Amino acid sequence: MEAQGSALSIFFLAVILLLIQCVAAQRVRISSPIERRALLDLRASLGLRGKDWPMKADPCSSWLGVECRNRSVSNITVSGLRRTRVGRLNPGFNVDSLVHLTPLVSFNASGFPLPGSILDWFGNRLVNLEVLNLRSCNISGSIPGTLGNLSRLTSLYLHNNNLAGSIPATLEKLRNLKILDLSINSRNGLIPSSIGSFGNIERLELASNYLSGLIPPSLGSLRGLQVFNVSDNNLSCPIPIQFGNLSRLVELDLSKNSLYGSMPEEIKMLRSLRKMIMGDNELEGRLPVDLFSSLVELQVVDLNRNKLDGALNSAIWSMSKLQSLDVSNNNFTGKFVNGVERNGSIDKNCLQATKQRSLEDYRLFYSERGLSFDSFGAPDATSPPAESSPENRKRLIFILAGVIGGLGFIVVLVLLLVLILIRNKGIGNQRGSADVVPVPEGDSPQLPKDPTNLAGSGGSFTYEQLLLTTENFRVNTSSFKNETYMMELDLFRKLSHPRFVPLLGALLGA
Ligand SMILES: *[C@@H]1O[C@H](CO)[C@@H](O)[C@H](O)[C@H]1NC(C)=O
Ligand SMILES: *[C@@H]1O[C@H](CO)[C@@H](O)[C@H](O)[C@H]1NC(C)=O
Ligand SMILES: *[C@@H]1O[C@H](CO)[C@@H](O)[C@H](O)[C@H]1NC(C)=O
Ligand SMILES: *[C@@H]1O[C@H](CO)[C@@H](O)[C@H](O)[C@H]1NC(C)=O
Ligand SMILES: *[C@@H]1O[C@H](CO)[C@@H](O)[C@H](O)[C@H]1NC(C)=O
Ligand SMILES: *[C@@H]1O[C@H](CO)[C@@H](O)[C@H](O)[C@H]1NC(C)=O
Ligand SMILES: *[C@@H]1O[C@H](CO)[C@@H](O)[C@H](O)[C@H]1NC(C)=O
Ligand SMILES: *[C@@H]1O[C@H](CO)[C@@H](O)[C@H](O)[C@H]1NC(C)=O
Ligand SMILES: *[C@@H]1O[C@H](CO)[C@@H](O)[C@H](O)[C@H]1NC(C)=O
Ligand SMILES: *[C@@H]1O[C@H](CO)[C@@H](O)[C@H](O)[C@H]1NC(C)=O
Repeated sequence: MEAQGSALSIFFLAVILLLIQCVAAQRVRISSPIERRALLDLRASLGLRGKDWPMKADPCSSWLGVECRNRSVSNITVSGLRRTRVGRLNPGFNVDSLVHLTPLVSFNASGFPLPGSILDWFGNRLVNLEVLNLRSCNISGSIPGTLGNLSRLTSLYLHNNNLAGSIPATLEKLRNLKILDLSINSRNGLIPSSIGSFGNIERLELASNYLSGLIPPSLGSLRGLQVFNVSDNNLSCPIPIQFGNLSRLVELDLSKNSLYGSMPEEIKMLRSLRKMIMGDNELEGRLPVDLFSSLVELQVVDLNRNKLDGALNSAIWSMSKLQSLDVSNNNFTGKFVNGVERNGSIDKNCLQATKQRSLEDYRLFYSERGLSFDSFGAPDATSPPAESSPENRKRLIFILAGVIGGLGFIVVLVLLLVLILIRNKGIGNQRGSADVVPVPEGDSPQLPKDPTNLAGSGGSFTYEQLLLTTENFRVNTSSFKNETYMMELDLFRKLSHPRFVPLLGALLGA
């Protein structure tokens, strides 16, 4: 009885498994012979390899980059596929057989050379297309107006081709279009004002074309716009105040055009903005007051090479999310905070440095080490004010520079001598490993502690080892004047540069 029961259950299990397999096979097997024929034609015209698209196997289940839905081809990705030698020698926009693949939802040929033009039937026949990705396909000609018939299209990528002509106005019919990337092409003409009717667009990339004229004010109606990039064109107009309506905008790149006029107050309303890139234009005048305290999400600010002036709003130095700032080559005035750790470029302006560390900080630094501090030559509360005319100060600076330079040279020489002496003495003695060398105390905490690999010499020294061998990098200060302290501070500063320790090590190994 028991044996019969288990045999029966095994039988049922097998039947169920077989059924599942049949259903699975049915699901993936391509149903239409027309589609199968079309795929085989595509394989031939593009010169794809039997290895990737095997003749005998079912395309839905085993062809690379082919996906099916309801037993019809829905997605084709040929990017990354290698071609047969014949295919490589005769590339072209040979995709005519797609005309029979009406269920197609997505065609991705990104990076796959298809030199030629997009044909008119594309827009009339592939009515289910949602994604058309022809990035870097070496396509030329113009964008056919019929693409405006692809009512389901959400993403059109034509980045980096040789497309010329203007943007067809029919694209405004694409109600579902979210991404339009036409950057890096040879388009010219104007940005059509019908662009304001691209209702649901989120990403509009028109960079590196030859677009001229205005940024249409109608752009302000694109309420969902998150990325707008018209960098590197020939646009010539003021920044439209309608930009203020783009409250979702995250990235704005207007750089490398000929935009003029002042930055409109309305820019302050772009509260989601993370990248504000407007370098290489002819913008002038003052920035809106409170600009940087309004745009709290900003991460990248590039206003390089404009004609902006006025005081740079000090709020910019305390923006918590800022990663990169370039306001160089303008006429900004005001004070900037010295030693900002973030990427910043502010040169070629009229900005005045304020020291981030107060003189008090330096005084403390020195007094902790039992050294006296001369406030970098500036008069301070404890010493009588020096009568110094600008000329005198200038002369003092030259003298100081000379003395410091000379002393620096001498110290490096002495240091070298000491190192060579120590090294010669140490020949034959096995140097102890870093772990057993006692580390001198009382050094400033910001100095690097990592062992550093010495390129060339193959050895490795810890910072402590160097400190020990050089007696804290300290030379006989009694023979020098106060300026040594400054130079010493400079030395400390340089030492915290990661390249300096390897340099010392290399000298040591010389
Ligand atoms: C699957 O395709 C058949 C015709 O091939 C069609 O009748 C059916 O509606 C389709 N089902 C879905 C869910 O698309
Ligand atoms: C096919 O493409 C559509 C549109 O991009 C996408 O939503 C879908 O996930 C893709 N299907 C497969 C199976 O890759
Ligand atoms: C297209 O294919 C490339 C390469 O396989 C891939 O990186 C990209 O995400 C695809 N794009 C779309 C929209 O499917
Ligand atoms: C791009 O296509 C042109 C012909 O339209 C051809 O001369 C050129 O070699 C192609 N470039 C690449 C990188 O395939
Ligand atoms: C496609 O668009 C063209 C031009 O935009 C138009 O003349 C044609 O009637 C449209 N075809 C279909 C099938 O909608
Ligand atoms: C704008 O587009 C150009 C060209 O594709 C690109 O180099 C640049 O990085 C883009 N700007 C931003 C902010 O992504
Ligand atoms: C911008 O918004 C204001 C107020 O919300 C509205 O009056 C104006 O018409 C909008 N401009 C555009 C171009 O949409
Ligand atoms: C840019 O536009 C100006 C007129 O605004 C025109 O004179 C110039 O030729 C254009 N440059 C290019 C490269 O198209
Ligand atoms: C800065 O201002 C000076 C004097 O007003 C002017 O000569 C100079 O051209 C300006 N520089 C820039 C980059 O606008
Ligand atoms: C400097 O800028 C680069 C690129 O913008 C960024 O990746 C990096 O995180 C920035 N560094 C800091 C310290 O913010």
